[in-house]
Amino acid sequence: MVSEVSGKWLITGANGNLGRRLIVYLLKSTRDDIVAVVRSDKALQTMQRLTSPGGDLSEVYSTRLAVVVADYTNVAQLQGAAQGCDKAVHLVGILKATTISTYQAAHEDSCLALVEALAATSVDHITYLSIVGSRPDAANACLASKGQAEVILASGGPSSCTLRVPMVLGEGDYASGALRRRATGNNGFVFRGESLEQPIYAGDVVNAICAASTQQLVGGYDLGGPECLTRKQLYQRGADLFEKTPIFVSLPIGVGYLVAWVLEQFLGNPPITTAMLGVLDHDDNIDSEPTMKLLGMEKLTSLDATLEAVLAAR
Ligand SMILES: NC(=O)c1ccc[n+]([C@@H]2O[C@H](COP(=O)([O-])OP(=O)(O)OC[C@H]3O[C@@H](n4cnc5c(N)ncnc54)[C@H](OP(=O)(O)O)[C@@H]3O)[C@@H](O)[C@H]2O)c1
Repeated sequence: MVSEVSGKWLITGANGNLGRRLIVYLLKSTRDDIVAVVRSDKALQTMQRLTSPGGDLSEVYSTRLAVVVADYTNVAQLQGAAQGCDKAVHLVGILKATTISTYQAAHEDSCLALVEALAATSVDHITYLSIVGSRPDAANACLASKGQAEVILASGGPSSCTLRVPMVLGEGDYASGALRRRATGNNGFVFRGESLEQPIYAGDVVNAICAASTQQLVGGYDLGGPECLTRKQLYQRGADLFEKTPIFVSLPIGVGYLVAWVLEQFLGNPPITTAMLGVLDHDDNIDSEPTMKLLGMEKLTSLDATLEAVLAAR
């Protein structure tokens, strides 16, 4: 339903999977204006294509979407972008750190700059997306960095809400592509096939962000998908859609950590890292009811409907 009152959103990390999805949703279902912040000219062009002929959105929406290139650690640039906005959604984040792209810069430094920048603007609430298991004292470097970022947001500037989600599945995103490859293959290996997954549909995450933001919810909340199952079971549920029964050999996670550690010693940008593997290996088994209640969400998209939507999409 289109609200009578219009607002103005600042969205950082706007060119990512969830950023683009959130923007399309807001433009189509509200009268709100959006300032989409990205960090490169390439991302700027991606965003501009959204409202160009042949893009996901009609050109009429372009008047409500401004795209700004900024450095996420530059207070003045963020402050300039936020002028006139009343709420912010911070979607900057990485799963894999490299020698030139650190967790500290992507998570803590970007949050420090955002809090400082927004303190002198009309933005009075920030919604942040984090990962289930994030805590400042987590042993895993990615989860600890996300946890630190949450603390930074909670400790100053506008009020803030963190939604901690597990694996997100959306049409055309990386995780869904990887799951599709597993589901359509004949066999493969999986690290610790018994680890618990609780995937959530990207559309539900966008709804949760909008609810947290419009209600100005404060604090940190876990929100997982409607079903918890083992990784092997998840792969088979995907394969069921293609009427396949692939054979997955489960390898001990220690083997994965060893491979990742060796790669990290030799490559500046290894395909997998120990921290990334630790996040993916986290057992996700969350009771989402309390968070859903707070957000006013009656139900989540079923796993079957999610898999049908994301595995069919290319
Ligand atoms: N998708 C999931 O399964 C999932 C699960 C839990 C939590 N989350 C969190 O949700 C948020 C959005 O997720 P998403 O799926 O939309 O992610 P995404 O598609 O990977 O987008 C991430 C955004 O962060 C920016 N970014 C990446 N590395 C950066 C760095 N080193 N410094 C500054 N900016 C950087 C990217 O910009 P460039 O395009 O320029 O690199 C992009 O705008 C992230 O914070 C993520 O941690 C996602």
